[in-house]
Amino acid sequence: MSAVKITEGIYSVGIQNPNMRVFDIVMKTDSGTTYNSYVVKGSEKTALIETCHEGFFHQYLENIKEVCPLEEIDYIIMNHNEPDHSGSIAKLLELMPKAKIIASQAGSLYLKNITNRCDLDVQKVKDGETLDLGGRVLTFFFAPNLHWPDSMFTWVEDAKTLFTCDFLGCHYCEPYTFDTNIAYPKAYDAALKLYYGAIFGPFASFVRKGLEKIKALPVQPEFICTSHGPVLTKAGRMDEVIANYEAWSAPVVHEVPVIPVFYTSAYGNTAKLAEKIREGILEAKPNAECVTYDIIEHDMDKLHALINECDAFAVGSPTLNRDAVPPVWNLLAGIDAINAAKKPALVFGSFGWTGEAVGNIQTRLLGLKMNVFEDGFKVTFVPNEEDLENAKEFGKSFALSF
Ligand SMILES: Cc1cc2nc3c(=O)[nH]c(=O)nc-3n(C[C@H](O)[C@H](O)[C@H](O)COP(=O)(O)O)c2cc1C
Ligand SMILES: [Fe+2]
Ligand SMILES: [Fe+2]
Repeated sequence: MSAVKITEGIYSVGIQNPNMRVFDIVMKTDSGTTYNSYVVKGSEKTALIETCHEGFFHQYLENIKEVCPLEEIDYIIMNHNEPDHSGSIAKLLELMPKAKIIASQAGSLYLKNITNRCDLDVQKVKDGETLDLGGRVLTFFFAPNLHWPDSMFTWVEDAKTLFTCDFLGCHYCEPYTFDTNIAYPKAYDAALKLYYGAIFGPFASFVRKGLEKIKALPVQPEFICTSHGPVLTKAGRMDEVIANYEAWSAPVVHEVPVIPVFYTSAYGNTAKLAEKIREGILEAKPNAECVTYDIIEHDMDKLHALINECDAFAVGSPTLNRDAVPPVWNLLAGIDAINAAKKPALVFGSFGWTGEAVGNIQTRLLGLKMNVFEDGFKVTFVPNEEDLENAKEFGKSFALSF
């Protein structure tokens, strides 16, 4: 794709990657992605905003050259320095001798480590600082943890254009630049939600602050130029995308405590403990929403959402070959480690002779800084009446502890 004019003196010069199917190891990208980059011209100076993945360098240069000779770039503004945006920096600098890199303090440090050039000359800007391109002023607003500590927005007030890098973007690729032409709206909606969940889900409070910063702008943007997916326009999806972010980042308020009991069980022994632990929890907190979930019978995405949204949980695994079983590890792999600290958790399980599962799970949860209840609850093989009564008491004490 070649350069596309966004508005007077602002051009999209990024790259399309329709074939990408996995991003950052964990994110499925059924609709590919784009690495957006923009040229912003003032009467005296020209800035490049973000660069692109280095795998597409040649085409990227061609796009820039359509709107500006490379050597005329005065600034490279890095709102965020993950290599999908910063990957071309080192090569670009060779072709843009006078270009000055601009980033936040954190961004400057990351960029030096990413390029392995401790002498890299980065101009560090402060929150609210401005840069005059001649008849056109850029303002930098810090947007920490959206989604790295280095993130910031660049605002061009005269053009009512905001550059937000990953924020409000998504991995989605069509032959069009603007959101007014999306041919597969359902696929776009799905990509937006998936991207939000994977990238911004752990940073809901920062998302709310980022949205407030946009609302507080002296005039509302006509264009939001993200670094993945279509450019958002007032006439197109902008308001809807912002409303989605507001809804997805809203604090979750539970009317009653939500305390799921997750388990899995080969011969029903850990299952019996799960049931008794649930009874004990409900004895202590009768109004709680406390349901048992056999992990292998439920959709893992739903269980991941539940384990992150709940107020506390219990998790049980038998010991098989000296460890907890893979479905339990899969469940625990979905815990949002950024927000897990202090959440109360109870671990239980039946075992035959060595019984490592409970201890191993506890170690993992403690590593996530969770509030793990006592030493967990273990029973050899089939729980007898006394074991079941003890499991119930253990669940009750757990529920009374928070
Ligand atoms: C394939 C297999 C491997 C096992 N390995 C261990 C083990 O390493 N250590 C241990 O304490 N128990 C081991 N056990 C015994 C189980 O932990 C025990 O049968 C337990 O009661 C099963 O609980 P469940 O019915 O909830 O699955 C193993 C059982 C199976 C089927
Ligand atoms: Fe990123
Ligand atoms: Fe990105």
